[in-house]
Amino acid sequence: MNIVAPTGSAPVIAIDGPSASGKGTVAAKVAHALGFHYLDSGALYRAAAVASIESGTAADDEAALVSLVSGLTLRFEGDRILMNGRDVSDAIRTEEAGVRSSQVASVPGVRAALLGLQRSLRTAPGLVGDGRDMGTVVFPDARLKVYLTASAAVRAARRHKQLIEKGLSANLEGLLRDLESRDERDRSRAVAPLAAAPGARVIDSDHLSVAEVVDQVLAAYREVG
Ligand code: DC
Repeated sequence: MNIVAPTGSAPVIAIDGPSASGKGTVAAKVAHALGFHYLDSGALYRAAAVASIESGTAADDEAALVSLVSGLTLRFEGDRILMNGRDVSDAIRTEEAGVRSSQVASVPGVRAALLGLQRSLRTAPGLVGDGRDMGTVVFPDARLKVYLTASAAVRAARRHKQLIEKGLSANLEGLLRDLESRDERDRSRAVAPLAAAPGARVIDSDHLSVAEVVDQVLAAYREVG
C-alpha cells in the first residue's frame, strides 16, 4: 500500500482537529446532508493498532509495523470497519486501541502505508474526511478545509457525559489528562502533526451545538462549492 494514488477530482471536505472535538459526528452529518462518502481516518490507525496489539508487534518497530499494515485488507461497510474480513468496529474503540493508535500513527511508514487507501476513497459525488491530516497531507487540494476545535476541558466534559450516558464509569480528571497527552503526541510528532491547514476555517465549538457546527460547515461549503 505504499503506492501514492492519484488524488482524484471529486470534491473533498477535510475536517481536522484534536480528539473529542466532535469532528466524527460533524463529518458524518455533513456527508449525509450532501450525499457524500465519509472517511473516518482515525478508524484506520485504530485498526492498525488492533493488528499490532493482536500480533504482538511493538509500537516502535517501524519495519514490522509497515509489513503488518501493508498486509492488511481494510474496508468500510456502512459505519462498520472490516480488517481482513473481520468486523473490528468495536475492538478499535477500546482505550487500549486508542492509546496504541496514537503511537502507531507517529510512525512515518505506517502513515505512508495508509495513504493510498485513504485517497482511493475519493469518489463521486464527493468525500468528507475527518482526522488530523486530511487537509494538510492526504487531500491538500480539498475544496473546503475545516479545523474543528474546542478547549480540552469542554472536550473532556463532553466525552465524560457520553460515557456516563452509556452506563460506563468515567473519571473527568483522568479523561482530561488522557486527552491532553494524546493531543500533545499528535501535535508534536515529526510527520503529519496535528495542525490547522493553511486556509482552513477554524471553528471553535466550545459554545456551539453539533447542529450549529454542521450548519457552519455546510454554509462554508456553499460559499466555495
Ligand atoms: O480520531 P481518533 O481518536 O479515532 O484517532 C485515533 C488516533 O489516530 C489519534 O491519536 C491520532 C491518529 N490519527 C492520525 O494521526 N491521523 C489521522 N488522519 C487520524 C487519526
